[in-house]
Amino acid sequence: IFRAVIFDLDGVITDTAHLHYQAWKETAAAIGITIDPTFNARLKGISRMASLALILRHGGKERAFDEAERARLAARKNARYGELLASLDSRAILPGIPALLDALAQHGIAVGLASVSLNAPFILDALGLRARFDYCVDASLLRHSKPDPEIFLTACAGLGVAPEQAIGIEDAQAGIDAINASGMRSVGIGDDLQGAGLLLPDTGALSWRCLQDFWSTPPR
Ligand code: BG6
Ligand code: MG
Repeated sequence: IFRAVIFDLDGVITDTAHLHYQAWKETAAAIGITIDPTFNARLKGISRMASLALILRHGGKERAFDEAERARLAARKNARYGELLASLDSRAILPGIPALLDALAQHGIAVGLASVSLNAPFILDALGLRARFDYCVDASLLRHSKPDPEIFLTACAGLGVAPEQAIGIEDAQAGIDAINASGMRSVGIGDDLQGAGLLLPDTGALSWRCLQDFWSTPPR
């Protein structure tokens, strides 16, 4: 049986994607760039500064802002995101997650968090879930962004398990690619993810039973 499950945060544990979108939309509008939900899907799982770079390119303004101005824009977005997060509590935990975390604890399976969000510790606290995670990757120490496997390999090392003994759960394509590149087995949440070992429509379909069944099915 698998020894660890490593979760992405945004879109798997809680749905903060619409809050990131709201904050980026307002920040982009202030510099004359319009973003829509289709474009926003490309920002899933992508770090704050990399997201800003994509937005500037989308608006044809990648040359218009130097590093200091980019840092200011990113800080502005994050301040707004923080405001939007202020009312976050355990009601924002996605369906299926509390029961799965209970079952993993019951069966002695290690639980890790692999989020590129620098707000992850704050969000886990707000959701009341911090104590449920045995190891959370510190995103500020990462050198490579998803789809690089670094974040998942770091989580496995922190939990003391080999990637071949672990399952990763992700809602972003960059995240599924990172899990697969790490040697772990991937579970995707959503409908348009390529290459997930198991694809589920939403977190409500996640369970101890379905992870066990998945693990006992040989990889394709
Ligand atoms: C990821 C989100 O979890 O975190 C991205 O999917 C976001 O949309 C990234 O850009 C970084 O988040 P933060 O909180 O550090 O700005
Ligand atoms: Mg995500």
